Amino acid sequence: METITTFPELRQARAKLPEPVGLVPTMGYLHAGHLSLVSRAREECASVVASIFVNPTQFGPQEDLKAYPRDLPGDLHLLEKQGVDLVWMPTPEIMYPVGYQTWVTVEEVTLPLEGAFRPGHFQGVTTVVAKLFNAVQPQKAYFGQKDAQQAVVISQMVKDLDFPLEIVVCPIVREPDGLAMSSRNVYLSPAERQAALVLYHALMAAKSAYDAGERGADKLRQILSDTIQDEPLARLQYVSCADPVNLQESHGSIQHALLSMAVLVGRTRLIDNILLGA
Ligand code: PAJ
Repeated sequence: METITTFPELRQARAKLPEPVGLVPTMGYLHAGHLSLVSRAREECASVVASIFVNPTQFGPQEDLKAYPRDLPGDLHLLEKQGVDLVWMPTPEIMYPVGYQTWVTVEEVTLPLEGAFRPGHFQGVTTVVAKLFNAVQPQKAYFGQKDAQQAVVISQMVKDLDFPLEIVVCPIVREPDGLAMSSRNVYLSPAERQAALVLYHALMAAKSAYDAGERGADKLRQILSDTIQDEPLARLQYVSCADPVNLQESHGSIQHALLSMAVLVGRTRLIDNILLGA
C-alpha cells in the first residue's frame, strides 16, 4: 500500500493504477462502516484509493473540527489489511492554498434536513469531493447511506457537472445493539452511549408501524419524535419523513420514504435514517 500527500505524488501513483479505480473518501478514524465501503470497492474495482482528510470547510464555526478524532497509524493499518492500493492524505494547505476561492454549490437538495441545521456544510462537502474526483479520476466512488442526504447531494453534483463516474451507496453498518457506527460515537459517555440507542429504537418503532400498514407521513414523524422525547439525555433537532430522491418533506399517505433525524445526545450530534418501502 502506497501512502501519499501531494498532488504530483498522486498524479504519478494514479497513472500506474489498473482500472476501474474505486475511490473511498473519508475523514479518518475509521470503523467498520468505512471498511464496508472499502470492501465493496475491493470487490468491484481493480484498484482502490482511499482518502483521509478532515475537511475544514464542511465544519461550522461552532462545530467539532479541532476535536474531531484522529488515529492515522490505526487507519493505515486497517486500510492495509483491507487491501487498499493507495491512501491519499492531503493537508489543508494542499487542498486550500492561500488565495483559494472556488466553491461548488448544489441548490435544492442541500436546503432541508442537515442543510437547515448546518449552513455551509454541504458546500464544503461538494467542493472537497469535487476536488477528490478531479484529482483521483475514479470510475466509481463509494458513500454510506448513513449520511443519506450527503449521498443524494453528491449524486446530484455528479449528474449536474457531468463527472464520468458512478456513485455507489452502501448500507448503514450498525453496532450489535443497533447504534449506527460513527467516528463521533467516541464522544459519548457510557450513559450517553446507552441513551444514543433511542435513534435506532425510534426508527424501529416507525418501521414496525409501517410494516403493520401505517402510511401517514405525519403519524410516522410523530412516532419518531415521541420516542426521542422519552429519552431524557436526548434533544431532538429534526425528524423527517421525506421523498428519498428529492428530500422534499412528505405529507398525506406515503408509499416509500426516507425517515431521518438528528439528535443531540449530551453535546454529541448524531444522525440516523432508514428507507421504507425501498
Ligand atoms: P466520514 O464521516 O469519514 O465518512 C466517510 C464515508 O463513510 C461516508 O460516505 C459515510 O456515509 C460512510 N459511513 C460513515 N459511517 C457509516 C456507517 N455506519 N455505515 C456505512 N457507511 C458509513 O462523510 C464524510 O466522511 C465526509 O463528508 C467526506 C465524504 C469524506 C467529505 O469530506
